[in-house]
Amino acid sequence: MAKSLEKWQFGDFQTPEELAKRATKLLREKHKIFPDLIIEPTCGKGAFLRASLSEFKYSKIVGFDISEKYVEEAKSSLSKYLNSGNATVCAEDFFSMDWNAFLADFSGYILVIGNPPWVTSSDLSILNSNNLPSKSNFQSRRGMEAITGSGNFDISEWMLLQHAQWLTKREGTIALLCKYSVARKVIKQVRKKLGNRFSAFIYLIDAKAFFGASVAACFFVLSTNGDDSSDCKVYNDLKSPHMLHVISERDGLILKDTAKYEKWKHLSGQDLRYTWRSGIKHDCSKVMELEQVENGLFLNGMGQKYFLEKEYLYPLLKSSDIGNSRTNSYRKLVLVTQKSVGDDTSIIKNLAPNTWQYLLEHDELLKRRKSSIYKNKPRYSIFGVGEYSFKKWKIAVSGLYKKLNFCIIKPIDNRAVMLDDTVNFLSFEAEEEANFILSLITSKASLEFLDSMIFWDEKRPITIDILKRLSLKAVAKELGLLERYLQLAEVLRANSSG
Ligand SMILES: C[S@@+](CC[C@H](N)C(=O)[O-])C[C@H]1O[C@@H](n2cnc3c(N)ncnc32)[C@H](O)[C@@H]1O
Repeated sequence: MAKSLEKWQFGDFQTPEELAKRATKLLREKHKIFPDLIIEPTCGKGAFLRASLSEFKYSKIVGFDISEKYVEEAKSSLSKYLNSGNATVCAEDFFSMDWNAFLADFSGYILVIGNPPWVTSSDLSILNSNNLPSKSNFQSRRGMEAITGSGNFDISEWMLLQHAQWLTKREGTIALLCKYSVARKVIKQVRKKLGNRFSAFIYLIDAKAFFGASVAACFFVLSTNGDDSSDCKVYNDLKSPHMLHVISERDGLILKDTAKYEKWKHLSGQDLRYTWRSGIKHDCSKVMELEQVENGLFLNGMGQKYFLEKEYLYPLLKSSDIGNSRTNSYRKLVLVTQKSVGDDTSIIKNLAPNTWQYLLEHDELLKRRKSSIYKNKPRYSIFGVGEYSFKKWKIAVSGLYKKLNFCIIKPIDNRAVMLDDTVNFLSFEAEEEANFILSLITSKASLEFLDSMIFWDEKRPITIDILKRLSLKAVAKELGLLERYLQLAEVLRANSSG
């Protein structure tokens, strides 16, 4: 197997000496940890074993790794330490090791330290690798899905949950380098299963500098010497840690910044008048998205040109347009085959025969759309469409971008602009109303409230679930604009009843 593939399947990013030293020192100096037993379950070449020998002179240390070569390398690197007799290193597969038997007779304070593999289960299935929890020592992949809430999980997440199991009836600390998102998932799982048994701390690290990896990562400390609270303190780094914010659960939500949330939580509440939506989903951009070549002539994603009616074509803006505030012009149009989900599409045949013919010609590609949402639906169905899609004015924010960049979307060529399914938006009949609501959403109060709940390292940080927690009515009240807000509501009601 090519070296890099092997490295990938074992999530093999060896910790630089300096980072292991800093992290271990922090445990002794700041967390006042004095372990009887230190376990490094995936010790690799042994950076954390060496750091532990230096910082914890009298602790017993055991290291394991699946790679015999690394185990040998680690072993020989320890011999120069005066207390090297305290350490043993063995080749073991984490997933087949009998950890219960190993820990059975031990009653002292345990420190689980290290840097577990940086790989996800879906990476491993692409690699056809078996480096996964087996069915025998873990109920099954299904079981993992039930625990992590996802079919794709980080191997380190599973390992961390195992470590937490070891400490359900023992005293100790788990202190590992992992993705920031993994640490948060583990906190959530541990709180759910074990309540507030552990106190939690996250020290952000610069993974690019230490590992050349573009991922938000941290040194994650879970300890039974706790303050019995569900808070997790987040620090900027390991060297001179400065507390950035406190992650916690409040009102059933996981919050990034508890203090900010407390300041603005009176802005939360469901807004019945304004409903956040996501844009159109069609899963076949080659066919459904077209560029206008000249009046009436359109080019699809396969380089084919067709004369199509304009009835079903709408300007399309995507996350990259919204994220970069490019909202005055469009590059592509999208075929919107329905006014609402489930509508009969056969009417297109009479209303726009060229468009129908075009769809028929690409029937095979459209039929091949994998998602089960298209099963047993009218042919050429789309999703994320409704009356709201055709309103001329919108406020949009990209779910993928790392910035709360709300944009006004105005009609182009007198047509409502459609958005793709990575964009979240509100829609309005009138420009004035859209502008007023934009002023509420972009107020400091709203932005701080939303930011207190957004984890920017997520793949899709800005979700409808978060946006809908903001009550625009409450924001209007906060800004002394409630009357204006209600006035608009009255106008709307008058219009809709008239
Ligand atoms: C991210 S590296 C870190 C190594 C070491 N902990 C350090 O801090 O430098 C992950 C290590 O996990 C080991 N590993 C991967 N899968 C394993 C398994 N199933 N059991 C034990 N070790 C494993 C790899 O060989 C690799 O050395």
